Order: sequence, then structure tokens, then C-alpha cells
Amino acid sequence: MLKMLEKILAILTRRERKQLALLLVLMLTMALFQAAGVASVLPFISLVMNPEIITQNNWIQAIYTYFDFPDNNSFIIATGLLMLFLILFGNAVSAVATWAKFKFVWNNNDNISRRLLQHYLLQPYEFFLNRNSSDLAKNILNEIQFLTNGFLIPLLDFASRILIIIVIITMVLIVNPLITIIAVLILGGSYMLIYWIIRNKLAYRGGRRLRANRERFKVVSEAFGGIKEVKASGREVFFLEKYARASSTLSSMQAWNNLVGAIPKYILESVAFGSVIALILVLLVIKGEAQGIIPLVSFFAFAGYRLMPAIQDIFQTSTQIKFNQATLEHIYQEMTGISTREVIKQKNIREIDPMLFDQEIKLDEITFNYPDREEKVLEKVSLTIRKNQKIGIVGATGAGKTTLVDILLGLFIPEQGQITVDGLSIEAENVQSWQKIIGYVPQQIYLSDDTIIGNIAFGIPENQIDLEKIKKAAAIARLDEFIERLPDKYHTVVGERGVKLSGGQMQRVGIARAVYHDPQVLILDEATSALDNITEQEFMEALEAAAEVKTLIIIAHRINTVRNCDTIIMLENGRVQEQGNYEMLMQDSKKFRTMATARDKDDKNTKGQD
Ligand SMILES: Nc1ncnc2c1ncn2[C@@H]1O[C@H](COP(=O)(O)OP(=O)(O)OP(=O)(O)O)[C@@H](O)[C@H]1O
Ligand SMILES: [Mg+2]
Repeated sequence: MLKMLEKILAILTRRERKQLALLLVLMLTMALFQAAGVASVLPFISLVMNPEIITQNNWIQAIYTYFDFPDNNSFIIATGLLMLFLILFGNAVSAVATWAKFKFVWNNNDNISRRLLQHYLLQPYEFFLNRNSSDLAKNILNEIQFLTNGFLIPLLDFASRILIIIVIITMVLIVNPLITIIAVLILGGSYMLIYWIIRNKLAYRGGRRLRANRERFKVVSEAFGGIKEVKASGREVFFLEKYARASSTLSSMQAWNNLVGAIPKYILESVAFGSVIALILVLLVIKGEAQGIIPLVSFFAFAGYRLMPAIQDIFQTSTQIKFNQATLEHIYQEMTGISTREVIKQKNIREIDPMLFDQEIKLDEITFNYPDREEKVLEKVSLTIRKNQKIGIVGATGAGKTTLVDILLGLFIPEQGQITVDGLSIEAENVQSWQKIIGYVPQQIYLSDDTIIGNIAFGIPENQIDLEKIKKAAAIARLDEFIERLPDKYHTVVGERGVKLSGGQMQRVGIARAVYHDPQVLILDEATSALDNITEQEFMEALEAAAEVKTLIIIAHRINTVRNCDTIIMLENGRVQEQGNYEMLMQDSKKFRTMATARDKDDKNTKGQD
């Protein structure tokens, strides 16, 4: 329990912890008022039954004379009104406390999910290679709600009930210790026994609930993500069944949790009411008359009326807390697992100045391997890219071209070697300023379900988009004619991941997106692979005509694409095999010649396709 508290406190910010403390104070006030309501019942009923107390009790006598009551009845009425006020006020405090509780809890739901999204977004790129995006989405969108509903609310209810119970029990203890102790032992003991028996099951089933939920999100995201393949191969049933299994597990775990929390109430309520009746009968037999015992019995009945639900709530919230312990652990680990402090310092990316680049980019003996691979993907790759040069990178599939570009982009930190720009080494501190001057077209372009404008100005707030720049970028990417033919022109929505565009059109949107920022360095990773030769040629010419972009790094399968580059690098198994311009390589390298002639034939076959 203490460990859980530690974890939930660790998830909260200092401000939220302060709010929590305030909330607990409010809840304590609520408990005291509720207890005062209970406490006033016994004296009041005694007073009504036996008004002589007024003259017998010195305290009451003093109050009676101080306020100068005309007779006993008006004193009783005044006391009744006071009691009524106490109960009303107590309930008002309860209402305020409940309001504060829900406000706090749902604010937290909002804040924690925001913090989790921020935490994820600030992770290095490497983090996302090992994580399933539907799992991350699930944690933010769904698990935080389980944490709120299944952990935080029960925890607060638990705390408030404990306070109420302590106050009430203390009071009834003073009135009649024996009956209280017996009642508490029987009731509390039975609940504790039941809890003790099921506690491991609760934790286990809570864990299963968590895993089933992950599976549910994964299946749905995969089914829709690969919908074309699913439909084309008729695999709908496979996904349906997979979802059904996970979903029914989740539901049955959740139903079981609600059930075990609620069931003991019916058993123990019977026990409690039975006891009250038994108590009345016993007292009746001992004392022989009903009058004297009514205040005491009413007191216990009222105490029981407050106490029973409180004890039941404690049990129910305990089962919920235990059940959702797995969720808390999970979120705790997600939020504290990897530190983001370093990145947070410089998160305000808009305020970062672009890096100055006047002479050369140098890759110096870059060695890299992926964490789960033994073989080196890149080994001692050195390369100098002078400003305004065009560099081509060719090589067989899997040679490490994309990885090299990822390192150049600062997405991965090389194991050995470094990248320098005008002699300045690229480190975690300045990588964002370096990225600001790069335009990058990835091998697989991601288009969002937005308009062409929204996709070209990806991640830029609508009111900051410059339409002239959009049009210029579209012209460079040879996209303008196509856009003019669209029904809504630049406002045409491209569909999820660009499903309403052809492969080549998607690539050109990707290119327009990269050149929109007028980058000084443009990196194209197979960015023209889906374009026909003529369009590719036109794009290259348009790019050269646009003054801003001069330094180009082009990865291509077709030698033709890199033919005009100042330097062509041939990468093989992560090493630079050959380096030189087209003519040199054609002359000196047999491999390059084979590649060039094979690809040229290939080109002739595909010519004219879009
Ligand atoms: N995230 C990763 N984890 C482990 N290995 C990876 C990862 N990404 C790529 N690899 C491996 O690294 C090697 C180089 O991959 P890379 O994507 O750089 O090749 P490439 O030259 O761009 O190939 P292609 O021409 O097919 O795009 C491949 O063998 C690939 O399997
Ligand atoms: Mg690649």
C-alpha cells in the first residue's frame, strides 16, 4: 500500500500533491461533520424522551439560562434546529468535497495524459523503434482513464471513508465500548478475511486486464492499418477472432472485479441488521422495558447507517485499488522509466536558431549498429560534403544507406566517430539547430488525413502557413499541375496516409514538404523512386533553379538519378566501397558499371510510368 502511494505521488507534480493534501483536509472536515451528525442523535433523543435532563445536567442548565429560554419545549425545538443545521451544513461540506474530488481527479486525468504524451514525444527516435505505437496510444488515451477511475477515485474514497470510520468508531467506543468492539471485530474481520483471500487473484486479474487491453488496441490498429491487405486476402475473420478473445478477457476481468467488490455487502448487511434486531431483543430482556433503550438503539442504528456503507466502501475501493495496481505500476514505469529531463530543457524548438553552415559537413569514421544486431550496419564511414555540392549514395538494398542518413539527421547517435558542420560537432545540445537547416524526404512518406496544404506545411499551425511558399514548394516538386486539376485544389483532402493519391504523387507531397522550409541541405532517401524519369528530371531541374537548396544528398537505386552528382558513394555492407564522380566510377569500378548498366535497362522498361 505504501509503495503504491509512493508511486502515485511520484506521478503527480508538486502542485498536484499540494492540491491532494488540501483535498484530504476538506475530506477530514467532511468526516468530522458527518460524525457530529451521528453524535448529536443520542443526546437529542434522550432530551426529547426525558426533558428533565435540562435541570439535571449542569452544562445544559447553563446554556438554558444563558439564552434565557421560556420553557423546555422551545429549548428542545432550538436544539432540533441546531441539529438540523449541523446535518445540512455537514452535507453541504460533503457536496463541496465531492465536487473538489472529481475536479481534482479529472484534472489529473487530463494532466497525466498530457505529460505522458509529452514524455513519449521527447524520447529519442530509437525509443519508437522498439515500441508499438498502438500501445503508446492506448496508454495515453485509455490506461490513464483506468488509472483515474480504477485507482485515483477509489484511493480518495478509501481515504475519506477511513476518516469517517475512525471518527465514528471513536464516538461509539465512548458510548459503549463492548458492543462497538464486538461489532467492529465481526464486520471488519469478515471483510478483511474476504480481502485477504482474494487479494492475489485481484492483482493477477488486474494484470490480465492490462494485457488484454494492449492486445485489443494492437489488433484494431493492425486490422485498419493493413486494411488493404486484410481485404485483399480475406483475413477479416482472423482479426475479428483475435479481437474477440482479448475483448472478452478484458470484460470478464472487469466484471469479476466489480462483482467481488459488491457481493459481500449483501451478506454483511444481513449480518448487521440481524445484529441490531438481536441487540434490541437482548436489551429488552435484560432491562424489561423498551423506553430506556430506544436512544441507545437509535444511536447504534444511526451509527450503523453511516458506518456500514463506509466499511463496505473501504472494502470495495480496496479491491479496486488492488485490481488496478498493475495499471499504476505500468504508468509509473512509463513515466519514470526513461529520463526526459535533458530533452525538456530545449523542447521549445521554435525558438532554436538554425545552425550556420558555410563550408562543409564532415562524417568522420562513423560506426553504428542497432542494439539488437550483432553485425555493424555502418563501419568507419567517412565522407565530406562541401556546401553546394551534390552527393549521391548508391548501394544494394540493406547496405545501410537509410541508416547513414538517419545518423546524419541526428536521429541516432553513432557508436564511434562524429559528424561536424563547419568544424562544430553535432551533439544532443545542438542537434535541433542542425535539423533546422535540413530538409528530409524519407523513403516512406507519412501523409496525414489533411489537405494538401496541411500536408506540405506539416506540423505548422494553420495561421502561420504561408500560401505563397506552399505554391513555390509544390512547383519545385512538380506537383502544381496535378493540384490545379483537383476539385478543391490545394484544399483537397488526401485521405488517411494519403490513400487518395498515387505513390508518385505522395512522394511529391513529401518533397514539397521538405523544400517548404527552404532548407540549406536537402536529403532525399529514394525520394524519386516512384517518379517516372521525365518527372524526376524536371524535379531535379526545378530544384536547381530554386536558389535556396544547394547542398544535396541523394540516395537512389537508379544510377541515372545520381549521374550529375559531384561525388557518388557506393555503400556495401555498411562500408564505403567506391567514391568518385560518375565518369570516374564508370571507368574504374566494375561493380558500378554492372549496376549502372543493369539499372539503365531497368529504366528503359519502366519509362513513362507515373
Ligand atoms: N531498427 C532497426 N533495427 C535493427 N536493424 C535494422 C533496423 N533498421 C534497419 N536495420 C538493418 O540495418 C541494415 C541497413 O538498413 P538500411 O535501412 O540502412 O538499408 P538501406 O541501404 O537503406 O536499404 P534499402 O535500399 O532497402 O532502403 C539492414 O540489414 C536492416 O535489416
Ligand atoms: Mg533505405
